[in-house]
Amino acid sequence: MRLKGEIPVENEEEGEEEKGRDVNSLLRGVGFHQPQKLVVGYALTSKKKKSFLQPKLLGLARSKGVFFVAIDLNRPLSDQGPFDILLHKLSGNEWCDLIEDYKQKHPEVIVLDPPKAIRHLHNRQSMLQDVADLDLSEYDGKVGIPRQLVITKDPLSIPYEVTKAGLSLPLVAKPLLVDGTAKSHELFLAYDQFSLPELEPPLVLQEFVNHGGVLFKIYVVGESIKVVRRFSLPDVTKCELAEVAGLFRFPRVSCAAATADDADLDPSIAELPPRPLLERLAKELRRRLGLELFNIDMIRQLGTKDVFFVIDINYFPGYGKMPDYEHIFTDFLLSLVQNKYKKRHAT
Ligand SMILES: Nc1ncnc2c1ncn2[C@@H]1O[C@H](COP(=O)(O)OP(=O)(O)O)[C@@H](O)[C@H]1O
Ligand SMILES: [Mg+2]
Repeated sequence: MRLKGEIPVENEEEGEEEKGRDVNSLLRGVGFHQPQKLVVGYALTSKKKKSFLQPKLLGLARSKGVFFVAIDLNRPLSDQGPFDILLHKLSGNEWCDLIEDYKQKHPEVIVLDPPKAIRHLHNRQSMLQDVADLDLSEYDGKVGIPRQLVITKDPLSIPYEVTKAGLSLPLVAKPLLVDGTAKSHELFLAYDQFSLPELEPPLVLQEFVNHGGVLFKIYVVGESIKVVRRFSLPDVTKCELAEVAGLFRFPRVSCAAATADDADLDPSIAELPPRPLLERLAKELRRRLGLELFNIDMIRQLGTKDVFFVIDINYFPGYGKMPDYEHIFTDFLLSLVQNKYKKRHAT
């Protein structure tokens, strides 16, 4: 069952993991059908597997009856499992069909998350559309997106399009599609109009918003949210804008932290956005996007206390950098099945 164009998912079992069939027969064979015994089939890249399925998570999950089982993409899905939950970060057409097919045969399975909903985040225009549609005015603060423009064709037309749309320099140029490749995260800062035709469409051109060099990463796992501060790009002064010309490739500043311990900056560097605002934002986006596992990159406009811009949303981010993700994730998985169990018994 090798999928065309899919990210290869390694299947080697590691010390801390259980083999799919063994676990299932172990659980079901001895009559464990309580909802708290969970088998989570996962299809993740080896990189994601390494950062997410850390021994601490596996150990804690196992102690609460949650078992992670690698899905073998070379074997039919229906020969594996049964799974209570499918956890994945794949979205090709064939994989979508396989998940649909599995769901038809096993209507009880919970898919984290629906491939079609994940796909919505693979386009930098559609990913921010739901934020643009939100009205959170009754909460302490304003959340929007920077003014932006999509360019799909002729790079020579960019200066004209930018003027027509009334966008101000400097502009951040981002590849329109986010496909997991390094290239799709290659961003440029354009200081002047003349450099714009050098860019390669399809892309999104977004106004650069000065934000004091601090970015908020909001991790969402179902109803739980955690926010950490990261260094971001420094502000661009008017002086610099007048003097500098050309296109500059972005350094990947916000990726620098390796673990949750060094992920959050000193609290004195920036006050966190108001909690009610974040909770509302996360809740609305969960509902509108139809996703449970994502993170939001947000900045606070320089010189304001409560004007925020969402600049990026990622599916299944590096949760290894989310403080306490082991507990949050395990409890989330358990709660999903418990809620379903409760609902079934309530009807
Ligand atoms: N509109 C913007 N204004 C200011 N800084 C931005 C803007 N867009 C992106 N950045 C900076 O660039 C970084 C990467 O941009 P992002 O849209 O998150 O792309 P990626 O997909 O590479 O994470 C952000 O973390 C932030 O530091
Ligand atoms: Mg980002």
